[in-house]
Amino acid sequence: MGFDNLVFGKKDAHQLLEEYGSPLYVYDEVTLRQRCREMRSLLSYPRFRVNYSAKANTNVELLKIIGSEDLDVDGMSPGEMHLEMMAGFPADRITFIGNNVSLDEFRYAVERGIAVSVDSISQLKTLGEVNRGGSVCLRINPGIGAGHHAKVVTGGKKAKFGIAVEDLPKAQEAAAQYQMTITGLNQHIGSLFLEPDAYVEAAAFILATAASLTSVEMVDLGGGFGIPYRHGIEPRLDLARLGTMLDDLIKDWVARNRPLLVRTEPGRYVVAECGALLGTVTAVKENYHTYFVGTDIGFNTLVRPAMYDSYHEISVAPGNERPYAEYDKPVFVVGNICESGDILVHDRVIPCCQEGDALIVHDAGAYGFAMASTYNSRPLPAEVLITAEGEVRLIRRAQTLKDLWW
Ligand code: LLP
Repeated sequence: MGFDNLVFGKKDAHQLLEEYGSPLYVYDEVTLRQRCREMRSLLSYPRFRVNYSAKANTNVELLKIIGSEDLDVDGMSPGEMHLEMMAGFPADRITFIGNNVSLDEFRYAVERGIAVSVDSISQLKTLGEVNRGGSVCLRINPGIGAGHHAKVVTGGKKAKFGIAVEDLPKAQEAAAQYQMTITGLNQHIGSLFLEPDAYVEAAAFILATAASLTSVEMVDLGGGFGIPYRHGIEPRLDLARLGTMLDDLIKDWVARNRPLLVRTEPGRYVVAECGALLGTVTAVKENYHTYFVGTDIGFNTLVRPAMYDSYHEISVAPGNERPYAEYDKPVFVVGNICESGDILVHDRVIPCCQEGDALIVHDAGAYGFAMASTYNSRPLPAEVLITAEGEVRLIRRAQTLKDLWW
């Protein structure tokens, strides 16, 4: 770290903030395309598709790029499906993977020809009301989970997601009641793994489950592919090793069973690293021997550190000419929200900051803007894309005060 030479295409952080306002989300097209390609080539198994899990970031311009890289998408709500269709995804490249959704939400998907996955027998019956005679995927809960924080572990006996495997016979009965065919199984055990083992174990489990359900033509192994938020400390996920382990499993399964379409559902891996969040140092102080760097990046703009104690690397672009120096002890970087939990960086040694410096929060492309809110009545920030040619393009305008009411 240090006063990195942080250039965003042809501009620097200060120029971008001046032009588009602070804070500001910035995305890099080249990195986004690269991550898409890495995911697309995870398996050598030919009948393999990637569903980008759009909850991580639904900016329509990013979705268009992701679509152009031959990824399909998941939608979690009519809102996500709507944005995906705006980005040009046809219905047959979208899967609605809902959780506790309403009859109307199922109808929205069915009327448009979007495949639906349900995650309880109760939801299966609700879907049956609008999809009699159609097909359905079941989200199973394999009874194992994984993730970077208890709040993102989505498999396991205490998680709210999925159908317990022992209930599958009941799910089959319910599907039969509505003449629905169970054509797919999916699962997602949790978010952010950097070692392949738990994912491969869960993949083996869902494949074993699919073996006896002969109508199943598609198995979706889930998302959760992690990225190294701690630069230079955490290793990158070894995709080559993971891919080989999965390929072996799948090829063996297909040889012993029947043809199968295999999907994965990455969210974070696709978009996290292409995004940075820029902001401005608005105040600095030392209170009772603790340094606080105050910024306009509150948890309304990036909630991950406050919600999950998540770590993001942070760089400082000084607003004036001065020699480089670091704080002599760890500091807190805090936002402009009226809550003491509004902490962006906990107890970390960073470069000394002054009012007017720009801050760059790295790897903010996933679950950044997507989870932003207008808490404390702060309008949502703008988003810009640095194109492959290095140009800056506004891809969502900042909200104004007028947008805060009706
Ligand atoms: N599929 C399903 C059914 C999911 O629920 C999720 C994420 C994904 C795929 C994509 O997971 P990913 O590849 O991004 O790990 N807000 C949290 C993460 C919550 C993930 C929720 N489900 C965070 O900021 O870390």
